[in-house]
Amino acid sequence: MSKSEQLFSKAIEYLPGGVSRNTIFRKPHPYYADKGEGCYVTDVEGVTRIDFANNMASLIHGHAYAPIVEAVSAQLTKGSCFTMATESEIDFAELLCKRVPSFDKIRFVNSGTEAVMAMLKASRAYTGKAKIAKVEGAYHGAYDYAEVSQTANPSNWGDVDKPNSTPVAVGTPEKALEDVVIIPFNDVERAINILDQHKDEIACILVDLLPHRVGLIPASDEFVCALRKWADDNASLLVFDEVITFRTNYAGAQQNYSVDPDLTAMGKMIGGGFPTGAFAGCDRVMKVLDPTEPKVLLPHSGTFSANPVTMTAGYIAMRDFDQEAVNKLNALAAYAREEITKVINEVGIGACVTGAGTMFRVHLKAQPPKNYREAYMDKAESKLISELLDHLFDNGVMMINTCSATLSTAMTIKEIDHLVATLKGGFEMLLPKMNK
Ligand SMILES: Cc1ncc(COP(=O)(O)O)c(C=O)c1O
Repeated sequence: MSKSEQLFSKAIEYLPGGVSRNTIFRKPHPYYADKGEGCYVTDVEGVTRIDFANNMASLIHGHAYAPIVEAVSAQLTKGSCFTMATESEIDFAELLCKRVPSFDKIRFVNSGTEAVMAMLKASRAYTGKAKIAKVEGAYHGAYDYAEVSQTANPSNWGDVDKPNSTPVAVGTPEKALEDVVIIPFNDVERAINILDQHKDEIACILVDLLPHRVGLIPASDEFVCALRKWADDNASLLVFDEVITFRTNYAGAQQNYSVDPDLTAMGKMIGGGFPTGAFAGCDRVMKVLDPTEPKVLLPHSGTFSANPVTMTAGYIAMRDFDQEAVNKLNALAAYAREEITKVINEVGIGACVTGAGTMFRVHLKAQPPKNYREAYMDKAESKLISELLDHLFDNGVMMINTCSATLSTAMTIKEIDHLVATLKGGFEMLLPKMNK
């Protein structure tokens, strides 16, 4: 038995299915990490791979980034959490608010799920309305309302003019489904038509500007502007989920658009490798949290929120992901997308690559998908993607399980060239199966 097999046989005695999060499950068993250094991870068998998954997009400087290790170690000797505020949260709040024009105030939480949840609740508290609107197929974490329709499939997604609100988990309250309005991505006419059927009811429209499950294609400026206008005309809010996309530009993906959101949720990267989340926005709305107000519209706390370990790590991660680092990493990702497109053409396989900023996703589709329904993978495509991922993994490349990659500042052209060459081998392996 390999070390991973041994660990897994013990894990299944205590953890459901042997895992603490389904994302890392692999058949016949997950692989166990021993250590990470920069953009490389070594598993307990001693095999080292390039890490393009970066703990699901959360490590912007790769593993064991020396300035974070040093600062966090110093903080740990002084304590990790207190029933008091710390200076570190003020410094980090200042850094992020000065970075993004739409942030007047920010509140820290402990995960992206919690950030999106609190952002939706703040929208409800501010508007006094219950419903939220979200894009079909988009992933926003595990809050009942935020996850509606995330796993919609052809048997239940319904008419594109009025997509169904489908549950992810068995037992999701019917009321939660009724309170979530689903709109198609980048389809202004249909989206506005659907929203118009819920005038006066919608607290906010929740948008990820580069939604991974929807195909990792950017929201069009036209779509975002139309949603902004609808929100303004209907006393609703426009809120962005930048839990992942904050890594795509200096002030997040919102920097690329001509309108601002009222609120933004963040997570992942801004924790510098530690669990975190945050939501931020204009004073007018963030006031719902203010404990100095005569009536607090959204009472909100969290035991580990803004703990000084995360604040210290996050501050350094973001300080060092400055404009120059953002430009350099985005250029490296653009190079990767170009090189992958070249090998797709050389091999002559029906595949394409989507993405923006520091990320990309490989699809086994000849044309880039335009929305969730087009990005959806049937069983045959999922099987081929799994084979491609296994090929990459066996040849030293770790990707996210949709065949997506997120870069870290620890990477260079050398790692990209290895990925591209390995992908080429994978495409050649798949080609005869795809032509069948
Ligand atoms: C866009 C988006 N929103 C929210 C979340 C939830 O974040 P977390 O896993 O930290 O709860 C994720 C996680 O992958 C995400 O990708």
